[in-house]
Amino acid sequence: MRHLLSPLDFSVEETQKLLDLACDIEKNRSKYAHVCDGMKLATLFFEPSTRTRLSFESAMLSLGGSVLGFSSADSSSAAKGESVADTIRMISCYSDICAIRHPKEGSAFVAASKSLIPVINAGDGGHQHPTQTLTDLLTIYSLKGELGNMTVGLCGDLKFGRTVHSLIHALVRYPGIKFVLISPPELRVPDYIREDVLDAHGIEYREMTNLEDAMEELDILYMTRIQRERFFNEEEYLRMKDYYVLDKEKMKLAKEDMYVLHPLPRVNEISVEVDDDPRAKYFRQAQCGVYVRMALIMTLLGLEVE
Ligand code: CP
Repeated sequence: MRHLLSPLDFSVEETQKLLDLACDIEKNRSKYAHVCDGMKLATLFFEPSTRTRLSFESAMLSLGGSVLGFSSADSSSAAKGESVADTIRMISCYSDICAIRHPKEGSAFVAASKSLIPVINAGDGGHQHPTQTLTDLLTIYSLKGELGNMTVGLCGDLKFGRTVHSLIHALVRYPGIKFVLISPPELRVPDYIREDVLDAHGIEYREMTNLEDAMEELDILYMTRIQRERFFNEEEYLRMKDYYVLDKEKMKLAKEDMYVLHPLPRVNEISVEVDDDPRAKYFRQAQCGVYVRMALIMTLLGLEVE
């Protein structure tokens, strides 16, 4: 039995196989319509979500399976004090595979250690969000035709943004990747990412505070919101929240084939006027999330189509 807890749980070769399957699913939806007939996905969301939970549900329904679950801790027995470990033992009796989001770092690992079914980490605190990373990789791959040989700008809350941490882990495995890390000094990427991931892999990167100064050299710009829910201090959040706003003027500085991604939800960091720019690909990215989750469910359940 396999789980997906970290973006590194799949090798580069396995990741490529999964992306190829997702591409085929996009082209041939009907071929996959009954792969999961009679199977159930449980979505255990102890934290709010729109895209991750609903794209998982859409993915399982598109494969012919069914879904059950809860969308907040308050509507589960976690509100009565039940542990993640006990919750997952119950869920193992009710479903074939589950996706869990929890505010505590490491919670998906705890769940996997007690589970009798495959567990997918759908976001654990400020730590990792591996299915968002698979979504990001599929989006970049579909736009650029490869995952290496590019300069990726990561902009916004690089301290608490788990999507950024997971994406860095995944991309350092490809040749010719460079990063420009654009953040306020208070929200720099954590030391463990800089030292244990970037430095350890000999990756070229620069840290900057000014987005305009970076625009010209980027092939991908990955915007992120300031993660209000991870701040201890509301005043600090209010000071940071509009630090970056990508608008039409800044887009003029970028290459013709520089694409803008964002895991969403967006707050203020991308002006809505950018949505009409053909290089804005964040809604395409959200769509890729369904195909990649369909491919992931099939892979973890060991299902194939002739
Ligand atoms: N990108 C993402 O994780 O969005 P949700 O929080 O809406 O699931």
